[in-house]
Amino acid sequence: MAFASFTPARLLIFGATGAIGKHITEAILAAKPAFEAVTIFTSANTVSAKQDLLARWKAIGVPLSVVVGDVTSEDDVKRAYATEKPDTVISALGRGALTFQTKLVELAAQADSVKWLFPSEYGTDIEHNAKSPNEKPHQNKLALRKYIRENIRPEQLRVTYLVTGPYFDMWVSARLSPLMGGFNPATKTASVIADGEGKVGFCTMPDVGKFLVAALRHPEVSFDKALKVQSFVVTPNQVLAEYEKQTGGDKWTVTHVPLADLQAAEAKAWQETPGSATGFTLRRIWAEGGTLYEKNDNELIGVGPNDTETLAYAVAQALKQ
Ligand SMILES: NC(=O)c1ccc[n+]([C@@H]2O[C@H](COP(=O)([O-])OP(=O)(O)OC[C@H]3O[C@@H](n4cnc5c(N)ncnc54)[C@H](OP(=O)(O)O)[C@@H]3O)[C@@H](O)[C@H]2O)c1
Repeated sequence: MAFASFTPARLLIFGATGAIGKHITEAILAAKPAFEAVTIFTSANTVSAKQDLLARWKAIGVPLSVVVGDVTSEDDVKRAYATEKPDTVISALGRGALTFQTKLVELAAQADSVKWLFPSEYGTDIEHNAKSPNEKPHQNKLALRKYIRENIRPEQLRVTYLVTGPYFDMWVSARLSPLMGGFNPATKTASVIADGEGKVGFCTMPDVGKFLVAALRHPEVSFDKALKVQSFVVTPNQVLAEYEKQTGGDKWTVTHVPLADLQAAEAKAWQETPGSATGFTLRRIWAEGGTLYEKNDNELIGVGPNDTETLAYAVAQALKQ
């Protein structure tokens, strides 16, 4: 199959039922025209724990296969590639499984059918600036990009990273620490980093699926790129104003967290509770402008300004939670 005329038709998804994978899979199953075949590679645990979700997806009518396996087993992954013959592999594996992806990529490059692979990214731009190589939460994703650059030739396998920035839905509802920033409609209180005027580029969870399908429809511009996609770019103060508008117009009580306080909390978390430190680092990166670009790649993959969710819609959705 020549890459120049490549159109993805047979998709294999790892992590399909996860927090982000669920939105990707739903968008893929809803895509029109439909993809020829969709396969989910999932653990036995997920098959029993998420029966209803899988039954609902099967009822949509797009040919959907479920391969049960262990993502750490070379034989299971090889079997999935050989029997399902995917031309495109999409990984939405969780942070705990990122290191297993080196093997997924290596085996994909060896599999005759597989032409294109999306590693699990769907988050912060890990090659944004001079500080990026040293950010702890980026290390596994950076290592995979390095492995791919050094070992995978484009004629074997094309690779695309979908970079979304923070999910608005998660960002507004931070509860771990007020030092992270967050919005609480029940008490009409908010905490914002610094003066709240620093812009942040957000994606909403449904839009990540929309962007992934858009990338699938535009292989020629997506191959071998980290696509930066965004639903909207706003300041925390604009988010606050939208919350105030949608909750009756009263002014909320706002705490301003100096960036230095967030940085101190981040350093303390890495020392004392590393399991919860990633969130602090990511919020610091986002507050420092780590989601801002001269231009994002939305248009490149055919996503126009009216195709994504808006701040007003996203706040309305958050208020329903
Ligand atoms: N920017 C942000 O704010 C943000 C937020 C969330 C996520 N993300 C990114 O999105 C991607 C997906 O994350 P997620 O939160 O959606 O993942 P998740 O829900 O934690 O996990 C996704 C799936 O990965 C599979 N998995 C297998 N072994 C695993 C292991 N040892 N640890 C974790 N998962 C394992 C599981 O599926 P099976 O049982 O089917 O195998 C699981 O449902 C990651 O790259 C993450 O960094 C970014």
